[in-house]
Amino acid sequence: MIAKFEGHYHGGVDEFLVSHAPSKAETDGGFRPVSGSRGTPAHVLENTLVLPFNDLAETEARIRGHADRLACVIMEPVERSYIAPDPEFLRGVREVTARNDIPLIFDEVMSGFRVAFGGAQHAYGVTPDLTCLGKVIGGGLPCGAFLGRSDILELADPRSGEFFHSGTFAGYPPAMAAGMATLDELEAPGGFEGLLEKTQNLAAEFERIVEQRHVRARVPRVGTVFSLLERGIFVKPAKPFYLSTAHDDAAIRQTIEALDDALQVA
Ligand SMILES: Cc1ncc(COP(=O)(O)O)c(C=O)c1O
Repeated sequence: MIAKFEGHYHGGVDEFLVSHAPSKAETDGGFRPVSGSRGTPAHVLENTLVLPFNDLAETEARIRGHADRLACVIMEPVERSYIAPDPEFLRGVREVTARNDIPLIFDEVMSGFRVAFGGAQHAYGVTPDLTCLGKVIGGGLPCGAFLGRSDILELADPRSGEFFHSGTFAGYPPAMAAGMATLDELEAPGGFEGLLEKTQNLAAEFERIVEQRHVRARVPRVGTVFSLLERGIFVKPAKPFYLSTAHDDAAIRQTIEALDDALQVA
């Protein structure tokens, strides 16, 4: 059995699609496994425990109640549509999983190299047992990576014969090269800091504009990720803004002007 959080997305796999975007009607009955795609086998639903993000008491109770059956707890430490974690909540999930010897997996496919260069785990000071990365680490080319506790990773060593892990594109050299080049650029003096500053400036401009136009809105952000939440006007439904080093001053100016124009019309 695996445990995952309602609303969290970890890729197009039956298990991880469970309750990744349930409708309101589907969640009215409480936190229960909801199929995320046609044809989900019954055993997948039976073997997925759904947890409530940022609700430590209920999460702890559910994990404790299934501790002897849980293979892992997986979560997006900063949910990709931007729901910030309560730091106490993250620490609590780390504690209850460690106490019950359940591997905790942080899916940092979205938050890695964005919330901080070291991802949400550095920003919040919580270390999972395994981490999944993607997107930024491939520098725009298809790439995924996982890292973490050596005793778990050693199971995937072909010599161990424990766990099959291979694929045509494993270690795909162009993606590795693009990823290394991207990380080098972010790690260069001023690289990530520049991106952070750009994000702060853009978010601050957004805040200034919504205030000036008397729009009820908030611009939550963490690291280089931020979104605009507003009643009635959604700049980008359910998705935050992700700035990259490719966004130059002209692109930022254009974004600010577009928001200003849009709010003026509204
Ligand atoms: C948080 C998160 N995890 C996992 C994935 C899945 O990555 P992929 O589409 O490469 O399987 C995504 C994709 O957007 C994601 O946002």
